[in-house]
Amino acid sequence: MGETRETIGVIGGGQMGSGIAQLAAISGFDVWLHDSDSGALQRASEGIGAALRKLVSKGKLSELAGTDALNRLRCTSDLEDFRHADVIIEAIIESEDVKKKLFSDLDKLVKPSAILASNTSSISITRLASATRRPAQVIGMHFMNPPPVMKLIEIVRGADTSEVVFSKIKALAERFGKTVICSNDYPGFIVNRILMPMINEAFHALYTGVATKEDIDTGMKLGTNHPMGPLELADFIGLDVCLSIMKVLHHGLGDSRYSPCPLLVQYVDAGRLGRKKGIGVYSYK
Ligand code: CAA
Ligand code: NAD
Repeated sequence: MGETRETIGVIGGGQMGSGIAQLAAISGFDVWLHDSDSGALQRASEGIGAALRKLVSKGKLSELAGTDALNRLRCTSDLEDFRHADVIIEAIIESEDVKKKLFSDLDKLVKPSAILASNTSSISITRLASATRRPAQVIGMHFMNPPPVMKLIEIVRGADTSEVVFSKIKALAERFGKTVICSNDYPGFIVNRILMPMINEAFHALYTGVATKEDIDTGMKLGTNHPMGPLELADFIGLDVCLSIMKVLHHGLGDSRYSPCPLLVQYVDAGRLGRKKGIGVYSYK
């Protein structure tokens, strides 16, 4: 990224998109945030405001920097506002069809030089790029949850991603204060290729009666020094997101060992999506 103040567009104001918008605003960018659901956009705006106030009250951000960040962030229900964005970071639901439709729409709308980055957890960047006429400018920029706190961004090159675009996104990730790892474009990339089968296995352990959910989580927390147990982490990520990723791994790698656990499928069918719904493996009500 150059010296002038650039504009970042974030699409999807859920837990990831709102965290990415917050991080971009704190990092000095002008930010547009869009969600197709006006309620979600309102919640994102209020959540970011509260998070910035908390950072100021803890002394982690000066009052001026907090106000500046808030002033640089604008929420919009109109994608037309992304016309002048330099980088667009997509963080909508983990569905290839829905993402492809958005990428195709954005391609027609945003300026020719704009980079289209996806925060997808698992979906092929090459296939998302194929929905556009600018495959060289499409890239994976995979933040970890919660984006303001986690130190990693996984960058994924599609088959046609240019080296210039890769370098710009790497520089952007570093301006966000993150460490970068690079993955080729295979299902689940690096982190979810390894993390999700572990979470799925934890569901199998629960499903087949190996132990209680509490003992499975405590085992992995205290036994392997993970900050959260795998079932607690699944609730934190969202069980719908975990299931979508497992389906991409299963379909893309063609091996039954990636088949989603029936208990995970059942929870999602029941609307038990985790913390964001107040109930998942655990109840948060
Ligand atoms: N936004 C901003 N700051 C946040 C935050 C959020 N959403 N959540 C927590 N924080 C901050 C807190 O304010 C706190 O800051 P201070 O130290 O200044 O007080 C700090 O983070 C620690 O938070 P807490 O004290 O509330 O709680 P904690 O110590 O238990 O940490 C956690 C919370 C960072 C989420 C920690 O439990 C953790 O690291 N969990 C594992 C998270 C993880 O594995 N994420 C990756 C998931 S996989 C993924 O993201 C990829 C994918 O595609 C699915
Ligand atoms: P979420 O359910 O919290 O939020 C998704 C948001 O996208 C919702 O507010 C929804 O209204 C909005 N949306 C859906 N379709 C849209 C469209 N066509 N246009 C505009 N907005 C639309 O989901 P999330 O957990 O924030 O995940 C978002 C993306 O980030 C997914 O691709 C997911 O795989 C990825 N991701 C998630 C995590 C995680 O831990 N949850 C971590 C890294 C990456």
